[in-house]
Amino acid sequence: MDVRVVRGGFESCLGEAAVCLLTEQAALPEALATALLGLPAKADRKASKVTVLPTYGRLPVEHVLLVGMGDGAKLTSSVLRQAVGQAANALRELGARSASAVVWGAEELAPCEAGAALAEGLVLSGYRFVEYCADPGPAHSLAQVTLFVAEGEAAWSSSVAQGVVKGELTAVARDLVNTPSNHLMPADLVRRIASLAECYGLGLRVVDEAELVAMGAGLILAVNAGSAAPAAMVVLEHRGGPVDETPLGLVGKGVCYDSGGLSLKPSESMARMKGDMAGAAAVIGAMCAAAQLGVRRNVTAVLPLVANLVGPASLRPSDVVTALDGRHVEVLNTDAEGRLILADALTYATRDLGLSPVVDIATLSGACARALGPVFAGVFGADEALVRRLRDAGEAAGERFWPLPLDEGYADLLKSSVADIKNVAGSPSGGASAAAMFLASFVGDTPWLHLDIAGMALTDTEGPCQPKGATGMGVRTLVNLMMSECCHR
Ligand code: BES
Ligand code: MN
Ligand code: ZN
Repeated sequence: MDVRVVRGGFESCLGEAAVCLLTEQAALPEALATALLGLPAKADRKASKVTVLPTYGRLPVEHVLLVGMGDGAKLTSSVLRQAVGQAANALRELGARSASAVVWGAEELAPCEAGAALAEGLVLSGYRFVEYCADPGPAHSLAQVTLFVAEGEAAWSSSVAQGVVKGELTAVARDLVNTPSNHLMPADLVRRIASLAECYGLGLRVVDEAELVAMGAGLILAVNAGSAAPAAMVVLEHRGGPVDETPLGLVGKGVCYDSGGLSLKPSESMARMKGDMAGAAAVIGAMCAAAQLGVRRNVTAVLPLVANLVGPASLRPSDVVTALDGRHVEVLNTDAEGRLILADALTYATRDLGLSPVVDIATLSGACARALGPVFAGVFGADEALVRRLRDAGEAAGERFWPLPLDEGYADLLKSSVADIKNVAGSPSGGASAAAMFLASFVGDTPWLHLDIAGMALTDTEGPCQPKGATGMGVRTLVNLMMSECCHR
């Protein structure tokens, strides 16, 4: 998608259609008010409400789209993103290939946030996953949008460019999550990551199964033991900061399929488990975006890749496995596999690579999904300032996080009578925090955040910027966080 920013007002609009995004309070642009004489000018300004008006030659464009943004006092970048998505979908229905846009009455929004939200809305509203459809439906035509701004075109323009990149890499993450697991086992995912790394200029190291055995990553290997295909761990590097800067660490859960293992899931909940590598997908997208945007921070990603299946060598409930950090873990439920692979990856990220701070992102617990529903993901962290920065990064991205507790009280539930720790508490209550405390025991003193996106990775309800299926949640938040971490070293 080609999005340009040009200084000018509504009268400059060109292309096949002109979009005017308006808050309830904003007066119509003068050129539009004049042209609309005699036409139904009283458009509904409710957020995301689109009114399509043919211009009958009164303006140099064929259609004007009046798009509401609701109450200007409540305007956020999310409202703008959704309204733009709705408008872009209406443009696609009109078959428009090019359009102009103006944003009216959004003075409260800083151009550095608004431009990105607008571009993200344009890019993400057009996302479809048609890889396996013989008839992919009508091709989406909208390819070029010119945004006219009254002032500050440099700020708008750089923010729009960032939004395009963040939107495109959110789409890459969605593709990975939507791809069924028979087409995306660890080796396939490694190939996809390698070609992205090459394309975006990221450092890449693939730790294969033999090396995982040699290093003693017993938890990653144990989870993958029921699978006929080998496990892997991928390390991606973006070097945007000074050579001596400690890299920020990103760790993403990469369970290509989660059947539950011998603690088998019921079929209804199993069908969503091709998306159990959404944490890894978010990290992959964020790393590529960081490279393309030239984020001035060193960042290293660690991605443990497995499939949790049933086979003759499957991990069994009651097995005791040696973790990479040397501790013994009693596995009482093989469906609590995410924390196992993340534990070894976190040991590697903190102890071996010395990354700090470290942020992990994972579809970790049904308990988190039940607690927060499809509205918020969970964030866990002892460093309140870091939690605050993550939540701000998320709000700017339209991805929301709510803090849940990390507390020794939950760690007590993980005491084992036969090993150093067990992977599940006796009862499911408090499951999201118990899972988080399991991870906490593998990060040592490293400042760390855990993001649980179990309820957010896939959606059953479509929205203006989102068809059913993968959301790509986390890509934009992580990019925003990396950018904010440049000033918090
Ligand atoms: N991948 C699941 C968590 C999940 C649930 C993701 C719903 C997306 C939607 C995870 O591996 C899992 O199975 N967790 C178990 C843990 C339990 C056995 C302690 C769960 O939450 O039921
Ligand atoms: Mn599981
Ligand atoms: Zn899982």
